[in-house]
Amino acid sequence: MSDDLVAFYEAGYSVADPVEAARYGAWRAHGARLKAGHAVALCSRAGVRPETLAEIGCGDGALLEELGARGPARALDGFELSAPAAELARKRSIPGAGRIEAYDGAHVPAADGAYDLAVLSHVVEHVPDPPALLAEAARVARWVLVEVPLEANRSAARPAKRAQAREIGHLQAFDRAAMHALLRGAGLDLRAELTDPLPYSHHAFFADGAAARAKAAAKWAARAGVWRVAPRRAERLFTVHWAGLAGRPQTSEHLAVRCGSP
Ligand SMILES: C[S@@+](CC[C@H](N)C(=O)[O-])C[C@H]1O[C@@H](n2cnc3c(N)ncnc32)[C@H](O)[C@@H]1O
Repeated sequence: MSDDLVAFYEAGYSVADPVEAARYGAWRAHGARLKAGHAVALCSRAGVRPETLAEIGCGDGALLEELGARGPARALDGFELSAPAAELARKRSIPGAGRIEAYDGAHVPAADGAYDLAVLSHVVEHVPDPPALLAEAARVARWVLVEVPLEANRSAARPAKRAQAREIGHLQAFDRAAMHALLRGAGLDLRAELTDPLPYSHHAFFADGAAARAKAAAKWAARAGVWRVAPRRAERLFTVHWAGLAGRPQTSEHLAVRCGSP
């Protein structure tokens, strides 16, 4: 991982202004509730009941805390490129939390098959070599859950939107087919997937004032409406979040016995 990338993510979690820090903390907590909902739904759909979970790129631990509270796994570890982020995560009271550590962003310090489930939530679009990170997740876990924004769409292709995405560290813009190919490339079979056009609360989170909230409401209503009637068309037009749960083909029977899946 380049020094520039490490510095970028260290700075991202070292906001000095307490008001700004609280605002971004609340934003991450809000996102974590949505992401944890996706994770729980996918595990349930695929009949996966992991006992152990590692979140790779756990940031400040917002999602780990939400997952700990909702209990899809008994034991949770977190690995993160940014040391200040890992420190914030360690300060949380996360039910079931074990190791929460900074690492080099390439080699997760865990043995092959150490976990039932690895979670890569909004991380793969941030890395220069997505196949390598997917392969690393598949090395340490039998199941891999990935969530990304699908940004290979007409709205997100506009120069201003691409610039915004780059500003927050997005090096990749995926569509659904690219995510399927990435998982296949890591030797994983997709077992369940979902998309989410995101609720009004997400679109309106940073809206200050009535006019901005009305604009967010209009955007949310239009997007949710298109997504409901034509979800595949929606993801070609604007950004939706995609989450997929995939597993190694030869281990599903083994996991069903060990974790008591139906
Ligand atoms: C958008 S945040 C997502 C945080 C958390 N997973 C979530 O969903 O709330 C992206 C995170 O990925 C981390 N990251 C970037 N490259 C990484 C890598 N190669 N390995 C692990 N984490 C990485 C960043 O430091 C940042 O914390």
